Amino acid sequence: MKHIFQEGNKEAPVLLLLHGTGGTEEDLLGLAEIVSPQSAVLSVRGNVLENGMPRFFRRLAEGIFDEEDLLFRTKELNDFIDTAAEKYQFDRENVVALGYSNGANIAASLLFHYQGSLKGAILHHPMVPRRGVTIPDLSNTPVFIGAGKNDPICAPKETEELATLLQAAGSVVQVKWEQYGHQLTRNEVDAAAAWFQSYF
Ligand code: MLT
Repeated sequence: MKHIFQEGNKEAPVLLLLHGTGGTEEDLLGLAEIVSPQSAVLSVRGNVLENGMPRFFRRLAEGIFDEEDLLFRTKELNDFIDTAAEKYQFDRENVVALGYSNGANIAASLLFHYQGSLKGAILHHPMVPRRGVTIPDLSNTPVFIGAGKNDPICAPKETEELATLLQAAGSVVQVKWEQYGHQLTRNEVDAAAAWFQSYF
């Protein structure tokens, strides 16, 4: 997968950056600087194109995911992280995702499908990636969710549903609510940074 790798402190978690629809692997580098400047960074570009816009998996319509492609792309990303860990010599068990929108959704899908794929996750404006599946044990996998009370894409009910599903799998979930829409706010990023520093 097209990506950027930046070296960091070996003790700190590697930040896996996952952009939103239409983004690239450059987009979230500034966030990584705020959240964990000491961390190595693996920033990946989604392999799917929707009208020329990179994404991490196909969708049939806004908010309706192509489940088969979601599963295929989630495995592809998980395998890519395994390979990158060997290539760049980082600890595969020490990876924390930082995703926005479509990137947060594939990060949530990693949590739903691959035990131990992430040590924690920062999900900005995520949705429920899939329903009706047994989620692996997440008792050692804390999750931060940033959400907007007026987000037309990720409705508050969906945020709450995701938080409940993750908690039922044992995760300690912190939700930071903003009054805005789908955009990422500085307040939310600062809250994610404080959350990260408190855990890692
Ligand atoms: C998705 O398709 O993953 C969500 O609708 C968010 C987005 O618009 O990318």
